[in-house]
Order: sequence, then structure tokens, then C-alpha cells
Amino acid sequence: MPYNIYVTRKIPQAGLDLLPPTFSVSVNPFDRNLRRSEIIEHTKDADALICLLTDVIDRSVIDSAPRLKCISNYAVGYNNIDVEYATSKGIVVCNTPGVLTESTADLAWALIMSCARRIVESDVYTRASLFKGWEPMLMLGQDVYNKTLGIIGMGRIGRAVARRAKGFNMKVLGYNRSPQKAEDKDLWEQVDLHTLLQESDFVSLHLPLTDETHHLLGEKELKMMKRSAILINTARGAVVDEPALIRLLKQERIAGAGFDVYEQEPFIPKELMELKNVVLLPHIGSASIETRTEMAVMAAKNAIAVIKGQEPLARVN
Ligand code: NAP
Ligand code: GLV
Ligand code: GLV
Repeated sequence: MPYNIYVTRKIPQAGLDLLPPTFSVSVNPFDRNLRRSEIIEHTKDADALICLLTDVIDRSVIDSAPRLKCISNYAVGYNNIDVEYATSKGIVVCNTPGVLTESTADLAWALIMSCARRIVESDVYTRASLFKGWEPMLMLGQDVYNKTLGIIGMGRIGRAVARRAKGFNMKVLGYNRSPQKAEDKDLWEQVDLHTLLQESDFVSLHLPLTDETHHLLGEKELKMMKRSAILINTARGAVVDEPALIRLLKQERIAGAGFDVYEQEPFIPKELMELKNVVLLPHIGSASIETRTEMAVMAAKNAIAVIKGQEPLARVN
């Protein structure tokens, strides 16, 4: 009997092309993400699943997939998967670390610059034919160079964001679970979370979403930030208490925020949509052609390796 691979959404062809013709490969034919019942239906006979960060792979999905050997997430974050339960069933869970590091760091920087220099607002203004010539007080924002950048979560992406800050002559403060490595001493200064929040002009989040990091920034922590500070979240929405953040942004208790991720994606509260001091993106951290291609290749290679009984490129359990 051939091995079955189910792919929950069309990913770049370079990944799909790697799946050997000896495998029986099915790809969701629709131009939309699958509903839970559809994921269960299609995973029933699968040996490997290539899935998205929006697909919730919990106990009920795993229990209805007796043949499943591999859950290959097309993402580095894997908070959508019940990894502990998968592990108890002998299922290997894989992700796509590394290949998306630089693109996601670039996007965090795009948000820093957009928020600081009011890029999106200025574009809307210009398209509305409101530009009447250079003005001394038009669209004044904040400088980025020479400022302090606080990075929460100093892993692959956090460090890539720190490297870019060197070009802006910024002081970089970092907060991380594990101690700083010696080679990072010149890249960032290790501080506690409260110091980071109090001293940073820009705070950028680069943690995974876990039980420990859920609402790591609540109202109390957000209020420790400077009134002039800007928060950037390209990690996961639920690392921040979103309603508290919206309240503080409304009160201008925090100057601005750049969002790539939200607490209840794809839902975005109306009050957040109406705020002027935010930039809202549709979870596009890794969305470059090159990176998504590399992610597809990695996700496919992970699934193939597990099915063949080999070590995948990246496993999380
Ligand atoms: P990573 O290399 O694993 O880095 C995560 C860092 O967070 C690690 O240094 C880790 O510390 C630290 N950390 C974990 N739990 C912590 C805690 N409780 N307190 C303090 N620090 C903690 O992961 P990555 O590749 O940089 O990716 C980070 C996250 O970005 C992903 O999990 C994903 O959710 C998100 N992401 C989003 C996009 C997007 O499209 N917006 C794209 C890619 C990734 P240790 O050194 O102790 O492990
Ligand atoms: C994107 O959010 C990822 O985790 O890869
Ligand atoms: C602005 O365009 C300047 O020349 O200062």
C-alpha cells in the first residue's frame, strides 16, 4: 500500500514536486484553509500531514488518524499542534526553522520603520491628493537611529533583528529564557523584562507562544513601557493581552504598535482597526517568494524523511 501524504493547502510547487510519485499525495484543491471537520476527514488515512499554522492539530485530529507518523508544519511556530499528545502517539512533529529567520526579521524592521515614520499614514495621505508641497510640520514621526531597541525572545529571529539594529547605531537590550551566549555579548545586552520595557523606545517580540509566554505582556507590563514607545509583534498575538494593548494605545499611553499577528486570527477587533497609531499586517512575516519556497521544500523533506524512517531536517519532539 502506498504511503499517503495530505497537504492541507497548496504550498509552493518546489515543495510539492519533491514528494515522490510512489507516494499517494493529495492537496486541498480549494483556495481557502480547511475547516476542522475537513482536516479530520482528510487525515484519516494519512501517513504524513503537511499542514499550516492555522490548522489546529489537537487530540481529536490525532485520534482520528491511526496511520499518522509525521505532522510537518509549514511554519516555525507550532503552537497549533498538541505536541505532547503527538509524542505520546509516536508521531514526529516537524517545523521549518532557520529558512524564514531573515525574512521575518526584515518584516519586524519594516514595522519598526513604518510605525516610527508614519509610512502607511503618509501613503494614504498622498494617495488622497492631500500633499500640497513640503511642510515643516507634516507627518512628524520618531527617529530610529541611536534609540534603544528591546527584543523579547533572543532566538534565531530575535538575533537577526538585533543584527539589523547595528546599522541604526541602536542600543539593543534583550530578554531571553536561557542565558546569553558569549558570542552575543557585542550584539545585545541581557536585561530583565522590566528593565527592557522601561528603557526601550521600540520593543519587538520574538518568542514562541507557550503556556509560559501567553499574555507575557499584560496591562501591568505594557504600562512599564515609555509613553513614546512602540511595540512590534511578529511572534504570536496571544503573547500580548490584546484588549489591554488596545486600551493603552487608545489612551496614547503607548505611542504606537505594529501588528503582524493577532490574538484570535483572523479576527481583528474593530477598535484596533480604527486606531491611527497602529500598522496592521495580515501575518506575512515569512511571506517572500524565496522564503516560502524554502519552507515548502523543508516541510516536504521533513515529511519524506519521517516516512522513510530517516531523521528529518527539523523535529520539535
Ligand atoms: P527560536 O529560535 O526558538 O527563538 C525563540 C526564543 O524565545 C528562544 O531564544 C527562547 O529561549 C525564547 N523563549 C522561549 N520561551 C521563553 C520564555 N518563556 N521567556 C523568555 N524567552 C523565551 O524561534 P524563532 O525561529 O526565532 O521564532 C520565534 C517565533 O516567531 C516562532 O515561534 C513563531 O511563533 C514566530 N514567527 C512568526 C512569523 C510571522 O510570520 N510573523 C514568522 C516566523 C516566526 P531559549 O533560548 O531558552 O530556547
Ligand atoms: C509563522 O508565523 C511561523 O511560525 O512560521
Ligand atoms: C528635504 O528634502 C531637504 O532637502 O531637507
